Amino acid sequence: MVGLFDENGTNKIGLGTWQLGLKGWGRDYEESELVEGLKFGINNGLNFVDTAEIYGMGKSESLVGEVVSEFERKQLFIATKLAGFNATKGRVRKSLTNSLKRLRMDYLDLYQVHWEPSLYTNLTDLFRELEEVAKEGLINHIGVSNFSAKSIEKANGSMKELKIESNQIKFNLVERPNSELLSFMKANAIKLIAWSPLAQGFLSGKYSSESKPSGSVRKINRLFSPSSFERFGPLLSELRRISDERKLSPIQLVLAYEKHIGILPIPGFKNVKQVKDLVSANSLELSEQEVFSIDSALQKSGVLETSIGFYPRILPNFIARLGFLLI
Ligand SMILES: NC(=O)c1ccc[n+]([C@@H]2O[C@H](COP(=O)([O-])OP(=O)(O)OC[C@H]3O[C@@H](n4cnc5c(N)ncnc54)[C@H](OP(=O)(O)O)[C@@H]3O)[C@@H](O)[C@H]2O)c1
Repeated sequence: MVGLFDENGTNKIGLGTWQLGLKGWGRDYEESELVEGLKFGINNGLNFVDTAEIYGMGKSESLVGEVVSEFERKQLFIATKLAGFNATKGRVRKSLTNSLKRLRMDYLDLYQVHWEPSLYTNLTDLFRELEEVAKEGLINHIGVSNFSAKSIEKANGSMKELKIESNQIKFNLVERPNSELLSFMKANAIKLIAWSPLAQGFLSGKYSSESKPSGSVRKINRLFSPSSFERFGPLLSELRRISDERKLSPIQLVLAYEKHIGILPIPGFKNVKQVKDLVSANSLELSEQEVFSIDSALQKSGVLETSIGFYPRILPNFIARLGFLLI
């Protein structure tokens, strides 16, 4: 059985599948390329796959289900997420059942609450229900995403036997949440699963103020602004210099560094060519000198502190649900 926390296992880099929802990431890729990319990744040792019920409103889960049905279930680690607006005691089972159906499986390795639900949600009831479905064998591990330390403590206090095992947060070389959350997670052995580990492609060095990526997701990402290209230009040049020296791509270097600092990156991808980079990064080790050079460049550029949460929690779930349907 593949575990989330294997010390010597293969889960050092996972595969993110937001792009499989086929919405918001531009038009320069197709469903068949995503399917081939995912197959290639799994066939080459990337057996941790992360999806969510909201990616393409079920589309990503369905495509993941189609691909993983060709593999032996026990060799995979499949994680999905319960949308914050469905994260109530009354809705958990329905969402979970639908996710399992789309994924064509009868249990999940990791079920994550995608973001902190509205303020009117009873967190205690929600996590007791999650503990219940875990005891029934429908999920192996309970995780959260975009949760503050306070909410994780509340969730843990609600469950009798189980604990939150991971928090999936935005974390990459240039964007991180506040250090209190990171220290809390470390102190409580909560695994950091890093979303946008490539800063949505920013760290590849292929974009600039003049050449920005397409698609609504990155149009609203402040990283792709002229001031940020200016600020992080020296870092991107240093990543390019080190990767050229070692005949790697900057993406491989970035992922190897993230692996080195003990987090679990789940990069998104659009085709086999990109997944090949992710596969090679999975077995790549950096020298002390390379780590030192990246650390020094990071010290000079600093990082952007990101906030936890997507929208005000004062909005009731039905309004949030409607909002997501419209985008
Ligand atoms: N929990 C949450 O709230 C949350 C939020 C966001 C994402 N996620 C999860 O985290 C995953 C990763 O985050 P993300 O997709 O936002 O960003 P990301 O992994 O930082 O960036 C993905 C993008 O980087 C580019 N890329 C990938 N491999 C590359 C390569 N080898 N060379 C050059 N460019 C490459 C591709 O876009 P281009 O080719 O178009 O540049 C790809 O779409 C998602 O798929 C999803 O599973 C979770």
